[in-house]
Amino acid sequence: MALLGVNIDHVATVRQARRTIEPDPVHAAVLAEIGGADGITVHLREDRRHIQDRDVRLLRETIRVKLNLEMAVSEEITAFAVGIRPDQATLVPEKREEVTTEGGLDVRAQRSRVEQCVARLHEHGIAVSLFIDPDVTQVELAAQLGVAAVELHTGGYADAKTAAEADSEYDKLVEAGQFAVAQGLILNMGHGLTYRNVRRIAEIHGVHELNIGHSIVSHAILVGFERAVREMKQLVAG
Ligand code: PXP
Repeated sequence: MALLGVNIDHVATVRQARRTIEPDPVHAAVLAEIGGADGITVHLREDRRHIQDRDVRLLRETIRVKLNLEMAVSEEITAFAVGIRPDQATLVPEKREEVTTEGGLDVRAQRSRVEQCVARLHEHGIAVSLFIDPDVTQVELAAQLGVAAVELHTGGYADAKTAAEADSEYDKLVEAGQFAVAQGLILNMGHGLTYRNVRRIAEIHGVHELNIGHSIVSHAILVGFERAVREMKQLVAG
């Protein structure tokens, strides 16, 4: 059975749209935990567009399930992670202009930077996962760096336009996933997973954890909307 890591970045996106104090991602994390989340994931981006430093600090003190910090291979964010000590740091590529994380981390292209970042996190007892494309070469490099886990990027599968394309992307996840397990790596997956497309991924042999954010936050807004309006209506009507 796969575990569920809930990414709450987009709760913070709604808050930052007004630079106010609600909705608080820390509240969302507590509710996610009550709802059965096995972990909470946040991405502290260098531009702080959604999650803020304060959120990560409070999450570290509040939640009882695993805290997974997604982060760029950057000096500033690594120093922050070392101070916080999340249960796991997931290294992701990050571009300022992107709407969300686009591809996986290219471990081959930036091996020495990734290696230094991993070593620094390991020195402080932080387990590391690398967010990579479902590519056997990238998995092999991840294993050589001695990280505990990889998170295979499921965006290609999730965004597939045809069933044939989805099948082909799925096969890549299965192949890279089996290879990761054979290398002794913990196998996580995520990005773009929804209520419609998740089952097939959760059934892949050896999958440890799925990280899901946007679809859960979207669903939460809709399933909670009627109640939210009813409560405001009562106040307005007096
Ligand atoms: N895993 C990683 C590494 C991510 O960067 C993201 C997006 O922040 C997710 C999982 C979750 O993706 P989504 O919001 O599409 O569920």
